[in-house]
Amino acid sequence: MEVKIRSMNLNDVEVVAGIDRICFSMPWSKDTFTKELLNNLSYYQCATVDDKIVGYMGMWKICDEGHITNVAVLPEYRNRGIASLLIEKIIGVCKCSEINNLTLEVRESNYEAIRVYEKYGFKSAGIRPNYYHMPTENAIIMWKTV
Ligand SMILES: CC(C)(COP(=O)(O)OP(=O)(O)OC[C@H]1O[C@@H](n2cnc3c(N)ncnc32)[C@H](O)[C@@H]1OP(=O)(O)O)[C@@H](O)C(=O)NCCC(=O)NCCS
Repeated sequence: MEVKIRSMNLNDVEVVAGIDRICFSMPWSKDTFTKELLNNLSYYQCATVDDKIVGYMGMWKICDEGHITNVAVLPEYRNRGIASLLIEKIIGVCKCSEINNLTLEVRESNYEAIRVYEKYGFKSAGIRPNYYHMPTENAIIMWKTV
């Protein structure tokens, strides 16, 4: 299975919003993805297999920090290193730019995601109590020095 990573564009928002509905209890709408893609601070990448989008990842560039907004991979494509490829791509982009630190929030029960982030050197730096809804849950704040 060959996985390719490419920039997300406006033609992708319908498919990506569909992936979000499968992966999250509070998915983003097509409009939200469109606004994200039109935002100069945003950086969104898709993972494709045979030209089908199977995952995506986004980041906001704020001064010298990168804020990871979302990472999602379709269930049937998980545990094949696709999120890892997306994270490696974003870390590479940060290294080539002025971004020195990367941060994100993750549900404290989301062991799969935490495992992937820890693999790339993200460390827990605190909790945002009841940050998530449906269901209500604390967020772990993670940081990585690039
Ligand atoms: C989190 C997510 C993006 C990971 O995608 P993925 O493509 O399966 O990730 P990868 O294949 O690159 O890596 C998975 C790793 O987690 C490990 N893993 C899988 N299930 C695990 C579990 N239950 N507990 C601990 N580790 C687990 C795998 O062994 C693998 O580690 P390895 O690379 O050292 O072998 C995917 O599960 C997903 O889309 N989840 C729903 C959306 C979500 O929660 N996104 C994160 C928001 S913060």
